[in-house]
Amino acid sequence: MNAPTVPVSRRAADIPPFLVMEVLERAQALEREGRDIIHLEVGEPDFETPACIREAGIRAIREGRTRYTHSLGLLELREAICEDYHREYGVAITPDRIIVTSGTSPAMLLLFGALIDPGDEIVLADPHYACHPSFIDFLGGRSVFVPVGEEDGFQLHAREIRRRLTPKTKGVLINSPANPTGNLLSAAHMASIADLGRCVVSDEIYHGLVYGGRASSILEFTDNAFVLNGFSKKYAMTGWRLGYVIAPPWFVRPMQKLQQNFLISAGSIPQHAALAALREAGPDVARMVGVYDERRRFMVRRLRELGFGIAVEPTGAFYVLANARHVDADSHRLAFDILERAGVAVTPGIDFGENAEGYLRFSYANALEKIAEAMDRIGGYLQAR
Ligand SMILES: Cc1ncc(COP(=O)(O)O)c(C=O)c1O
Repeated sequence: MNAPTVPVSRRAADIPPFLVMEVLERAQALEREGRDIIHLEVGEPDFETPACIREAGIRAIREGRTRYTHSLGLLELREAICEDYHREYGVAITPDRIIVTSGTSPAMLLLFGALIDPGDEIVLADPHYACHPSFIDFLGGRSVFVPVGEEDGFQLHAREIRRRLTPKTKGVLINSPANPTGNLLSAAHMASIADLGRCVVSDEIYHGLVYGGRASSILEFTDNAFVLNGFSKKYAMTGWRLGYVIAPPWFVRPMQKLQQNFLISAGSIPQHAALAALREAGPDVARMVGVYDERRRFMVRRLRELGFGIAVEPTGAFYVLANARHVDADSHRLAFDILERAGVAVTPGIDFGENAEGYLRFSYANALEKIAEAMDRIGGYLQAR
């Protein structure tokens, strides 16, 4: 085809690729050539969705629950989310503060769409979830980064945020347990971030996947906050696409209008399934958390034995962000070299910000035997280098 005559929009042209997907796609190409690849790159539970949730989805299909729902989501589901937040964190929220969306990702689109005017700034940690700044920047905002370091488990300090506050600062974005570090933000740090008096956006999608310490909700410290959450990780429901926002009351209507215009409502079947997740899947989650924890301990021990730097043991989500600078300071080159030569797919730190350059993210959302084999392969690779 000839060169395009209509240019791609600046907004779309400026969006960086999500590198983890590029690693996955290269890994899949190698698999098509017959190579055996172990996947430690993707941030997706390897478990099937628990049976009680799948059954609820099947029931909803049989009962013909196949129409649009209320644009805020099923009332019953929003009530169950309120009960969940009350049980877990002792906070009292009402269903009219919740907007159910087709995943946490669309929830971010609604939230930042309603929050950000052109030039507004959102302060967040570096390293951060790769897509957080993409949402902010796409919607005309500016991501302002606070470097956080491995020495204290990548804690985001309020004093460092304060130094970056300007009249344009619209809010602070936190994520605990965090992707990519797997670390929890301590209650004390969260309290002092709330005390800054700025609006806090708290991505709580990894809540429930905690193996030591306690994940606090931002709502325990301030009401001047948005919570982003979803069912993908804790309930192994990535393909169902369901998430939600808990918002201050005056933000609900604006976000509802965005949902009505752009997305109409979240899927009806996933919402019925999610209701079963909140009501019935507790024992399944406990089982999965036990398995993740065993893998986590094993992976941290083996990575340290192989010489990777893990200053503070990660106790949440299913990631280990390990320092690999002594092997190669270029994480992109190193990750693709490990993929080609050792047959192990890992994510380059640079996907998560400049401050994560020189690191690799290992996901333990894979079977223990696979992780063991991957560690042996990487050991062989390091010896051969
Ligand atoms: C921190 C964080 N937030 C949000 C998401 C997106 O989740 P969802 O599947 O609900 O869109 C991810 C997915 O990896 C994530 O790591």
